[in-house]
Amino acid sequence: MSAETKPQLELRQVTKRFGGVAAVDGVTFEVAKGDIVGIIGPNGAGKTTLLNCISGLYRLDGGDIRWDGASISGMAPHRVARLGIGRTFQIVRPFGSMTVRENAAIGALFGSAEARRKPKEAFEIADEVLELVGLAAKAGHPVSTLTIPDRKRLEVARAVATKPHLLLLDEVMAGLNNVEIDQALDMIRKVHATGVTVLLIEHVMRVIIGVCRRAIVLDFGQVLAEGEPDVVLRDERVIQAYLGERYAKRLKS
Ligand SMILES: Nc1ncnc2c1ncn2[C@@H]1O[C@H](COP(=O)(O)OP(=O)(O)OP(=O)(O)O)[C@@H](O)[C@H]1O
Ligand SMILES: [Mg+2]
Repeated sequence: MSAETKPQLELRQVTKRFGGVAAVDGVTFEVAKGDIVGIIGPNGAGKTTLLNCISGLYRLDGGDIRWDGASISGMAPHRVARLGIGRTFQIVRPFGSMTVRENAAIGALFGSAEARRKPKEAFEIADEVLELVGLAAKAGHPVSTLTIPDRKRLEVARAVATKPHLLLLDEVMAGLNNVEIDQALDMIRKVHATGVTVLLIEHVMRVIIGVCRRAIVLDFGQVLAEGEPDVVLRDERVIQAYLGERYAKRLKS
């Protein structure tokens, strides 16, 4: 394998149990540097749990996660973040009394290796990322006044401000209308174009088809299918387990 094709992120038989239930059950896949990969699957399939395993929030019950060839299994979340693995949370919890700009600056202060920034520099990065996600005009607004789509944008901005090499996004399109989804798609393309590898969880298939080069389908904690999005979404098992017949008919028409 040449240096260019060496995976940036490798999951080998990753397993996470809650009580007797394996929420993530022997998951194996790789993500190449600069790739953009979607994780899809029914509610409760283990998608968020998998992200929590990668970002160090959960200790694995089995398997291994490697970053640039070295194991990061068992590493604390702040150390994983410092390697350059940034993430958003499915439940967005911004600091309500602070401004949009201050929230984004927090991301810049607690980020990857180049962290320990001075506040002035953190605010410069905040302004940069707010521009990127389309929130620059609201930089001075208190977060409590933001709409849901704007809170999602801020969550992405905060994660991007950590200057990650890999960005993990958990359903940042949930609850958005079609216009807002297009804007969010544009935002993800822009972030990806800056050289960031992206691994995103999404239920909106238009997003998976629109930006992802590869899709991984989880079902009952296991990889059900993996490949190019348009191929995966036509897979009979994926239609049965997740998409349903209505979606399949729409694809065929
Ligand atoms: N902290 C926890 N303690 C116990 N069980 C959990 C915990 N977190 C998740 N689970 C269980 O693990 C399974 C996977 O949950 P997870 O949140 O990873 O699913 P998901 O694919 O992200 O679903 P959704 O699409 O609804 O966000 C579910 O059965 C869930 O109830
Ligand atoms: Mg989830």
